[in-house]
Order: sequence, then C-alpha cells, then structure tokens
Amino acid sequence: MLRFDIITVLPGLLESPFAHSILHRAQKKGLTEIYVHNLRDYSTNKHKSIDDYPYGGGSGMVMMLEPFALCIEKLKAERNYDEVIFMTPDGVTLNQQTANKISGAANIMILCGHYKGIDQRIRDLYVTSEMSIGDYVLSGGELPAAILVDAVVRLIPGVLSDETSALSDSFQGELLDAPVYTRPADWNGHTVPDILLSGNTPEIEKWRFEQAMERTKTRRPDLLE
Ligand code: ADE
Repeated sequence: MLRFDIITVLPGLLESPFAHSILHRAQKKGLTEIYVHNLRDYSTNKHKSIDDYPYGGGSGMVMMLEPFALCIEKLKAERNYDEVIFMTPDGVTLNQQTANKISGAANIMILCGHYKGIDQRIRDLYVTSEMSIGDYVLSGGELPAAILVDAVVRLIPGVLSDETSALSDSFQGELLDAPVYTRPADWNGHTVPDILLSGNTPEIEKWRFEQAMERTKTRRPDLLE
C-alpha cells in the first residue's frame, strides 16, 4: 500500500483530481491512501499566515519555515517516509522511470510551494528530492503534485484492470505508442488502416511496432539515442 501525504495551502485544489476515475478507484480498492494537509493549520501566529517578506528585500513573499517544519515533523513522528518531495520548477524533471521507482515506495510526502518560493532551510533540512513537471512555471505545486500522484498510482499493481496496459504505455518501453482506432471502421470516408481489421495478429504487431518506431523517430528522436 502506497500512502501519500501532501502539504498545501490550497487543499481544495486537490480534491477533484483524487475523487475521480483511476485515482478514486485505487483508493476505494485500498491500493493507495492520499492525505491532504492544510499548511495553515500549522501556522503559529494569530493571523494564520504562512508567508513573510524575504530577507534582503525583493519582490514576492516567501513561505515560512515553521508551519512546514511542524507539519513535516508531526508526520515523520508517525511513520518513515521513503521520500519527501518538493514540487518546484527548478527540480529534476519527472519522467516515467522516476514514477516507476516511486510506485514501489510505502510512504511519500509531497510539499507544494507558492509565491516566490519556500524558505531554503525547509529544502535543506527535510526535502530528499526536488521535482519539476516541465520547463514552465505554474502558480503552485498542487497541480504538479496531482500529476505526480496520478503517474505513480496507475503503476501500482491492481490499479489498472488490465495490468499489461500500463506496461504498454508510451515511454514505458523506449517507444511512443502506435495510433489506435475504434468503431466505426469508416467515418465519412475516413477509414481505419486495413491491417487492423485483418485479424492477422503477427502482422498487426509488426505494423504497430513500425508505427511506434516511425512516431518516435519523427516526434521524439531523443528517445532512440
Ligand atoms: N511549481 C510551479 N511550477 C512547477 C513545475 N513546473 N513543476 C513542479 N512544481 C512547480
């Protein structure tokens, strides 16, 4: 069982992604548990603030050390965490290999940042891994956290009904997926490739491999290097 603890100032932003489809089913089946913690509950001042002006001046607010530290310490006292992951655009870019690795863990903590950043000491003291979902900047780490959880949970055995389906995903091998089609075979003259209607499994496999190779060559030649 893989447990996630996500620390955020915007817990509402994470409700919907975890309440539908595969992520929802995985929780109902007891294959994963996802807990969202409101950072503001760990604020120690009467205004419940969690950010402050940066030392040395400059624009933007910085998320304070203490609320994060209190929440992290409380969770760490309850169980051991394989990783404490901070979602940040200056982290290492998430890929399938990392998702595979995390899917084998037992307890994962995820910190979501906002504003200009979080006090560097949180990163120095608690974070074991800094992760980005790509070279663009979002308003916070919540959507990146949801993406990480989705990429990981679907890899847990038993989450997908057809277990081989995660294994045949693009990126799971070295190649992108071949195109797929379903009924009707002819839509206003736009037809499905004949080979897929042939029933000739070895030829279909060969065609799929060639298509996958072609797609990878034209779209992501870096994957073939
Ligand atoms: N927070 C803001 N932008 C991000 C990104 N691209 N990846 C991860 N966390 C982020």
